[in-house]
Amino acid sequence: MEEQIQAIKQRFGIIGQSQGLMRALSTAMRVAGTDLSVIIYGESGVGKEVFSKIIHNLSPRKHNGFIAINCGAIPEGTINSELFGHEKGAFTGASGERKGYFETYDGGTIFLDEIGEMPLDTQAFLLRVLESGEFIRVGSSKIQHTDVRIIAATNVDLQEKIQKGKFREDLFYRLNTVPIHVPPLRERTEDIYILFRKFARDFAENYRNEPIRLTEDGRQLLESYSWPGNIRELKNVTEQLSIMSEKPLLDAQSMIRCVPQLGQRHLPMIPHQSEDGGGISMQEREILYQLLFDMKKDLNDLKSVVSELILNNDLRLQNPGQLLGLGEGDKRSSSPVDSRSFGRGGEHPTEVDRSDLPILLREEEEEDYSESEIVEENLSLEANEKDLIVKALRKHDGRRKEAAEDLGISERTLYRKIKQYQL
Ligand SMILES: Nc1ncnc2c1ncn2[C@@H]1O[C@H](COP(=O)(O)OP(=O)(O)O)[C@@H](O)[C@H]1O
Ligand SMILES: [Mg+2]
Repeated sequence: MEEQIQAIKQRFGIIGQSQGLMRALSTAMRVAGTDLSVIIYGESGVGKEVFSKIIHNLSPRKHNGFIAINCGAIPEGTINSELFGHEKGAFTGASGERKGYFETYDGGTIFLDEIGEMPLDTQAFLLRVLESGEFIRVGSSKIQHTDVRIIAATNVDLQEKIQKGKFREDLFYRLNTVPIHVPPLRERTEDIYILFRKFARDFAENYRNEPIRLTEDGRQLLESYSWPGNIRELKNVTEQLSIMSEKPLLDAQSMIRCVPQLGQRHLPMIPHQSEDGGGISMQEREILYQLLFDMKKDLNDLKSVVSELILNNDLRLQNPGQLLGLGEGDKRSSSPVDSRSFGRGGEHPTEVDRSDLPILLREEEEEDYSESEIVEENLSLEANEKDLIVKALRKHDGRRKEAAEDLGISERTLYRKIKQYQL
């Protein structure tokens, strides 16, 4: 089976190794030899049409015709005539008779893209063909017979259409015999870079130049972009990059310069997924937590050192909030400890107010404290948060609006937290 899939990929130029793609390919292979109806589900540009061609070409109908019809692109008034044909004078402008696709492609395959957009009356006619092979040309009363295999595709939720009365439920069940799901590119990130390389190579071959390559951060940019237009968009972007770039090796920045859309619509994820394809692996998560934890610890160590320095040298901070990263005012000049290293600079130096001192310095009054206690204290996010809220409220004489602004949270969040901490 695996070998067969590889051969098909080769033959039809299908790139990708993701589980989702392989599963879809294997279903397509199994169903190809039968006459069963198929619905291919997937967003625009994921390769639905490619799949329909694979199924047709692997089927006994391969020597008869194949046609792809986009139901969303044919005006409602003409779709019946296009599909089933019409008689002379059937409607204004029908100067001659015309064969429809169901007649022309007798023995072959019709791919009905965007099936969800098919008008309700056409759906009824289609159901009849599927059930009995019978159809009637527009303006005729003669029943004709045809043997066509239908492969449908949709990028919308047909169940929703059914609920809204826009899609016939009986047709849905008739078509849905074998569903194939082609996943969007953002759910098969491991395919992105190989597709990029293939498109870059194809482009370079056509224009006889060197294929573009990406730096590591360039590759990460490509893999974290959400690709709303899927493979079609990736192909376009690769071509744009090939044309616009001055050098063959591109980094993230130069990619965004060439194709600005790459700087937007990013997924909140770390590229290079684990084999299970489930986003960040536990191992990666642990590393990230460890990193954050270490940083927090370093910060606390630094705070202890600084506060010790301040205490030992009998220095005073004009704005002690800085030690907790409050970032208020840094216009001190007398202290050798440069507060700018600890907070965002502000314009308004505050008065020294002992009650305003963070836990860290207030403990000075209690004489005995150890470094470990400080670290302990600061590791509690909740305690720090509570403390900051008290400070902010005190600073603004209990005015919540200003306090919330100072804390960089909404008034509503502040209100919730005041209740939570029973302040
Ligand atoms: N797995 C794939 N490997 C390489 N090219 C692909 C693959 N899937 C789709 N393509 C290409 O992507 C483009 C969009 O595919 P298409 O089948 O038209 O998407 P859809 O019908 O879902 O909108 C086409 O140029 C197609 O050749
Ligand atoms: Mg399409």
